[in-house]
Amino acid sequence: MQDPYLNTLCFSATGTTLRCVETVADAIGLSVGRTLNLADRTRPESITCNDNDVVLVGAPVYGGRIPPVFAGKLKKLQGNGARTIAMVVYGNRDYDDALLELTDILRENGFLVVAAGAFIAQHSIFPKAGMARPDRKDLDKLIEFGRLCRGAIARTDIPDLLIKGHRPYKKYGGVPLHPLGNQDRCKRCGICSDLCPVNAIDKETPCATNAGSCISCGRCIVSCPFGARQYRGLKYKLIDKIFTAVFAKRKEPEFFA
Ligand SMILES: Cc1cc2nc3c(=O)[nH]c(=O)nc-3n(C[C@H](O)[C@H](O)[C@H](O)COP(=O)(O)O)c2cc1C
Repeated sequence: MQDPYLNTLCFSATGTTLRCVETVADAIGLSVGRTLNLADRTRPESITCNDNDVVLVGAPVYGGRIPPVFAGKLKKLQGNGARTIAMVVYGNRDYDDALLELTDILRENGFLVVAAGAFIAQHSIFPKAGMARPDRKDLDKLIEFGRLCRGAIARTDIPDLLIKGHRPYKKYGGVPLHPLGNQDRCKRCGICSDLCPVNAIDKETPCATNAGSCISCGRCIVSCPFGARQYRGLKYKLIDKIFTAVFAKRKEPEFFA
């Protein structure tokens, strides 16, 4: 029988979740079919899989949960028995209930979760936490996880995975910090506005941010070619200092398979 294709799906605003997903996908070794980053607003709203499909789903952790915008999109997918790997990527604080939430949503939508894992990357709001991760050691762990997934996909007896986390899930109310543009650096190119996953930057006023819709994902910061968008202000500096000190101890990846 021919090997199935591997489809990958993630929400990656600043690229680390995507990088982790791609590393695991490479290590699984199947031919990759579709690769979707649902942080792109143009991506399809509904995807239907079948039991010949293998799907790898990656989410960043936001406030110990998966980003609500991604959760909403995942609930529109239909798994129809597709064998699925769930992974979350977090910024060295904790992943709390995010992997459990991701696994629950996938199972409720007909995906057969065969393996799950939590990995660490540089924090996209406080980058001194998990700085420069995933590093070589993380990449080795991602490869090890990918090889383990290859075995898990082929199994006929799928074990009931016990994923770390609690129900009801931790409450998440968003982050009260939002990146802003710098008038001197901004060239009004519109890239940040086009790439914002939630349309929180108006092309006419690109240095402002709609705090009501901004999810603080940092995509505008990493996508600006002129370094014009940043977190600024005393409140940010203070929280950054405390956060970096409190979450300095290195966390390590965890697998559930
Ligand atoms: C709004 C927001 C909330 C976050 N909450 C957490 C958290 O609860 N725990 C944690 O360790 N990291 C947290 N992070 C860090 C991200 O999980 C981490 O940087 C992840 O690698 C970002 O993925 P991306 O590069 O694909 O966007 C948060 C980041 C953002 C933007």
